[in-house]
Amino acid sequence: MPLPTTAALRPRLPSPLTEADDDRFARHGVRLLLKRDDLIHPDLVGNKWRKLVPNLEAARGRTVVTFGGAYSNHLRATAAAGRLLGLPTIGVVRGHELADRPLNPSLTRCVRDGMRLRFVDRSTYRRKHDPDVLSELLDATGTRDAYVVPEGGSNPLAVHGCVELGRELCGRADVVAVACGTGGTLAGLAAGLAPDQRAIGVPVVGGGFLAAEVRALQQEAFGGPRGTWSVDERFRFGGYARVPTELAAFAEDFEQRHGMPVERLYVAKMLYALVALVSEGSLAPGTTVAAVVTGAPGPGPQPSASR
Ligand SMILES: Cc1ncc(COP(=O)(O)O)c(C=O)c1O
Repeated sequence: MPLPTTAALRPRLPSPLTEADDDRFARHGVRLLLKRDDLIHPDLVGNKWRKLVPNLEAARGRTVVTFGGAYSNHLRATAAAGRLLGLPTIGVVRGHELADRPLNPSLTRCVRDGMRLRFVDRSTYRRKHDPDVLSELLDATGTRDAYVVPEGGSNPLAVHGCVELGRELCGRADVVAVACGTGGTLAGLAAGLAPDQRAIGVPVVGGGFLAAEVRALQQEAFGGPRGTWSVDERFRFGGYARVPTELAAFAEDFEQRHGMPVERLYVAKMLYALVALVSEGSLAPGTTVAAVVTGAPGPGPQPSASR
């Protein structure tokens, strides 16, 4: 039987763009739009659809091997895609110690979707793209000819997949905001926008490396820089997976105001950043800003405690 195609998964594309009535924006003369990529597909949510689909098509039925942490949205989406498209998947998980513990809800979902997990120690994980380490990992999982998708799914194909997100927003907003992990979504989004539009990336991890990553991804994908974009590093809230009480309260309040589930690790930080940018006057009156809702809350309890 032939494998199902990604078109058979019936994505909701272009994703909906809705106006959000929010006095924190309106009082500064700024319009807020929500680009609901979280509604593209129930299992391949948000930027996962845009980044993974071109890679799954390129895999052409081969086993897909990819990488992530214990709560990785990317691992979960890859596992779901494997189930939906009949592709075997292997997830290389950071943290050898996790192998002896009960699986968390996110990894449980991966396994239910048929993903084989391989736990590796942190030092091996850091060197996962070193050709020798990678080939040992592939040998150990018996998948020498596997299709390898990098951590976070960001490679040139993924960046090209995100160009369409920018194109869908052409003529609809002056500024587009997106949360960033590896920068692949921002790299593609900025390339798809019109020359009079700009993108703002809100990194959720520290290190100050994101702008360089985006430039490198655009170089690999397009051969040079594309679009107008910047990053604002001020809204990391202590780093990846940190959700202090203030951010959790902000996210809950946003959910109540707009009736939309707010993913805490990325989307909440980007929305918080936008409210802060508007209130400090960084978005001029008359600006229309689109916030890209790149994901939805995952399985299990939402992180809410101060850490
Ligand atoms: C919900 C969500 N938003 C944004 C991002 C960041 O995407 P990128 O790694 O392309 O910067 C991720 C990454 O996994 C994510 O899960």
